[in-house]
Amino acid sequence: MDKLRIGLIGAGRIGRVHAECVATLPGTTLQWVCDRDTESATRVSRAQGGRVTANPRDVFEAPDVDAIIIASSTPTHVDLLQLAVEAGVPALCEKPVDLDIARVDEFRQQATSAAVPIAIGFNRRFDPHFAYLRERIASGDIGSLEQLSITSRDLKPGATEYLATSGGIFKDLTIHDFDTARSFIPSIVEVFARGATLFSRSIANLDDYDTASVLLIGAAGEQVSITNSRHAAYGFDQRVEAFGSEGLLTVGNVSDTSVRHWSATSVEALQPYQNFFLERYSQSYLLQLSEFAKAVRGEPNRCAGYDDGRAALMLANAADRSARTGQAVSVDLDGMA
Ligand SMILES: NC(=O)c1ccc[n+]([C@@H]2O[C@H](COP(=O)([O-])OP(=O)(O)OC[C@H]3O[C@@H](n4cnc5c(N)ncnc54)[C@H](O)[C@@H]3O)[C@@H](O)[C@H]2O)c1
Repeated sequence: MDKLRIGLIGAGRIGRVHAECVATLPGTTLQWVCDRDTESATRVSRAQGGRVTANPRDVFEAPDVDAIIIASSTPTHVDLLQLAVEAGVPALCEKPVDLDIARVDEFRQQATSAAVPIAIGFNRRFDPHFAYLRERIASGDIGSLEQLSITSRDLKPGATEYLATSGGIFKDLTIHDFDTARSFIPSIVEVFARGATLFSRSIANLDDYDTASVLLIGAAGEQVSITNSRHAAYGFDQRVEAFGSEGLLTVGNVSDTSVRHWSATSVEALQPYQNFFLERYSQSYLLQLSEFAKAVRGEPNRCAGYDDGRAALMLANAADRSARTGQAVSVDLDGMA
């Protein structure tokens, strides 16, 4: 089959990752690179191919585009998804869909009844370690899943300008963990969260938290605990533990090598963990694109859909409300926000 011709909108930090994936995957080719900053678009195009434009409409109106990837800043996502649906072009859109649930709901009917696939970029679903964990649970290795623990600590906080527009820790950082939780236990009915500012004055000045703990309750009473921090002295900390009626499965942190070193000052010393999300989750972006290509070709796939993006945002809103009020918050992920 011919290669899928991809138009990329947004050539920033994550746009560069998507461009590299499109150039790497045998079944896809980068046809257009669009960024309002044409220097960024040109840099990506020189490295991975594609024609350059500053205007997204050029990409939607081009006759040689089979699908688009939306990797521009969050406030642009819903408008660009709307253009994609109107133009009949399949879209993979970065998370979050938007920071405002009302805006997500306004577009919900159009998005979920669109004739073309819309996928949301929850790449961690495709991480091979987490995917294998799901397989082992599904094959009955630990009986029925009762408790899930997700530890997700960033290496260090982003720039203050980034954090100021990120929507806060729950919509920016925990949102990935909400989706990871739902990839194991889709139906969540209650959220209890606490936030604290333990180390960053600039995050405190933004009325945001640098540290958070969340407890999610599943429809069958299952418990998911999420532990977040905006920093970790020992590196990017990404672990999941699944406890069931017949046993336990864990996913630990990942180093580039499993060679260990014993010496007078340390034992069992490993290389540092993979640096940050671009390294730790690099395979997941490629596997996500491969699943999106299946969606575009009308084949069965595991992509996260629009309502998965909506559910993660609803959980983030509930966590924020719970942290601010000290109360547990009930959620109905299928109902109105
Ligand atoms: N899935 C992940 O792991 C992951 C990681 C990082 C960021 N993200 C998400 O990806 C999105 C982009 O984040 P980033 O860190 O790459 O930001 P960034 O600021 O590095 O890049 C965004 C780019 O979009 C461009 N842009 C903005 N509006 C545009 C428009 N109307 N038309 C064309 N280009 C436009 C900007 O010029 C910029 O180059 C955000 O929604 C973010 O939440 C996801």
